[in-house]
Amino acid sequence: MFETNVFGVIAVTQTMLPLLRKAPAARIVNISSGAGSLTLNADPNNTHREMFGAVYSPSKTALNAITLAFAIELESTGIKVNAVCPGFTATDLNIFEGTGTVQQAARHPVSLALLDESGPTGTFSNERRQLPW
Ligand SMILES: NC(=O)c1ccc[n+]([C@@H]2O[C@H](COP(=O)([O-])OP(=O)(O)OC[C@H]3O[C@@H](n4cnc5c(N)ncnc54)[C@H](OP(=O)(O)O)[C@@H]3O)[C@@H](O)[C@H]2O)c1
Repeated sequence: MFETNVFGVIAVTQTMLPLLRKAPAARIVNISSGAGSLTLNADPNNTHREMFGAVYSPSKTALNAITLAFAIELESTGIKVNAVCPGFTATDLNIFEGTGTVQQAARHPVSLALLDESGPTGTFSNERRQLPW
């Protein structure tokens, strides 16, 4: 899980960076999950916290940390790096039990990929709000 969700993202990002540095408005959007939020899952009132296991969720927590690290490292270049939660979406991942469609899930990541120069970097959000790390 960490190989794919964390080290894979680092490898792909580092491989793409020479091209991204040449692009006029390069953006990196990492697909994270609210499941990786330590703040949300430390809250005893969060009814979904039982899903915070030892593998998937911590891999997304680490992905969030990697997102912030790249955002800080690339700040001076204008390359914006953000993490998003696509929401509970009907895909293979959850045996199509998710409540949202793939089309809905894609909306917010695409909007972050199209940020203009004044857009944020180093954030973690879903379509509705900023999420706590
Ligand atoms: N679905 C949700 O409710 C939900 C919620 C929060 C976050 N997310 C995140 O959204 C992202 C997309 O997930 P999804 O819901 O679309 O799940 P999915 O339908 O299971 O798709 C996962 C994709 O990752 C690919 N993949 C898995 N391991 C890989 C590896 N080692 N190397 C290269 N590709 C690999 C799979 O390729 P193959 O098809 O070739 O196996 C598949 O295309 C994931 O990061 C997931 O954590 C999903």
